[in-house]
Amino acid sequence: MDKSLVSAYRALNEAQGAIARADSLDDALRDGLKAMLQNCGAEYGVIWYADKSNKNRLHPYFWVCPTDLTSRSHLPGEGAVGRVFRTQKTERYLSFSPTDDPQTVEDFAGVNVVSMLCVPFSDDRDSLGCIQFINRDGGGSLSEEEADVCEMMVMLAGLAMGENEYLQSQWSPGKVIVSVRGVTREFHNGDVVPRALKGVNLDVYEGEFLVLLGESGCGKSTLLNILGGMDHPTSGTFECFGEELSNADQKTLTEYRRDNVGFIFQSYNLMPNLNARQNLELIASLVPKPMSADEALEIVNLGDRKENYPSQMSGGQQQRVSIARALMKRPRIIMADEPTAALDYTTSIEVLEVMEKIIGEGTTMIMVTHNEEICRMADRVVRMRGGRVHEVSVNRRKAHASELVW
Ligand SMILES: Nc1ncnc2c1ncn2[C@@H]1O[C@H](COP(=O)(O)OP(=O)(O)OP(=O)(O)O)[C@@H](O)[C@H]1O
Ligand SMILES: [Mg+2]
Repeated sequence: MDKSLVSAYRALNEAQGAIARADSLDDALRDGLKAMLQNCGAEYGVIWYADKSNKNRLHPYFWVCPTDLTSRSHLPGEGAVGRVFRTQKTERYLSFSPTDDPQTVEDFAGVNVVSMLCVPFSDDRDSLGCIQFINRDGGGSLSEEEADVCEMMVMLAGLAMGENEYLQSQWSPGKVIVSVRGVTREFHNGDVVPRALKGVNLDVYEGEFLVLLGESGCGKSTLLNILGGMDHPTSGTFECFGEELSNADQKTLTEYRRDNVGFIFQSYNLMPNLNARQNLELIASLVPKPMSADEALEIVNLGDRKENYPSQMSGGQQQRVSIARALMKRPRIIMADEPTAALDYTTSIEVLEVMEKIIGEGTTMIMVTHNEEICRMADRVVRMRGGRVHEVSVNRRKAHASELVW
């Protein structure tokens, strides 16, 4: 049998297995798409989901590709994605030309689309959305056999869907407040020039909880530092609250940080000879219109611990003091780099409950973590690989901190 066909059938098998093993339908769809991309040879893939409460507008809810599709959407009939949803007929462009579908070109700005397949996605009652495949892995065109398998797989996913109640997305993106395009970051160490970031495109939306995941060294902290104005990109653009800051001087970046961003790290960095209140009061003199130390400590549920010194508190309590310290400046965004990495399960949950409360009050949060379970709390999960955004997932049902288990 043709080698590509063998790998295609293997992909189908794996995708079926992934669906069978998954704990939830969302996991099934995500794992199914990933298994197919890995084995069937497609480079990128998107699951578009119809919003029944809004004229069936199709929104992306999971995608593997380096562009940020979050704000893209299509009405039924609009572009290949919308047409396929309306007609329930697959559209195949194994050699894609930009005139075939300008919307696809716009959706994938920055990606050279040479092959595109769009398959309707439905359960036994209803048309639910569509799944889009872009390119063969490495950038070439999909073969007919690979396209056939992709199509079969989507049909399978639809059947799985029929057995479940499907959920509508709770989160809809608000205003973009921070945006990076084509961001790279190189570090010069003698003759070696490691590239920590290789072209990152990402928007951050007001009020969202965004979790950044990925293997050690993939560039998470580097990206967080750029988003927080602690570091400059080597190339690419960085925009915050409508202001272009890619080439901003140190003074402008310091102002951006001071006025907008709160940082939380794995280590709490509290002054050991000052109690909780004094640790916060130290900051109050540095920021304009600070919150009172008492108010900040109440928010993190430490109203009864104000007089305690760091050595008299648990790790979770100390981390909550450091969160209160970040809150003192009333930040619009909090950037947290592995805030629970040094904590045990119980104290991590205490910290996450506080984070949940702060997000609930409208603060945007970007959190780097190695803990997959925390993803369940996020509005969006961004996975990085080798200095790039690899996949993004929009959560259709958010878990509360108290529901997480590890
Ligand atoms: N100041 C620096 N000088 C030289 N190389 C650096 C510097 N900072 C980061 N790097 C390199 O850039 C890459 C990305 O590092 P980064 O700290 O962003 O990874 P990370 O995803 O946060 O990893 P971890 O999960 O281990 O914290 C790594 O290869 C790292 O060695
Ligand atoms: Mg890091």
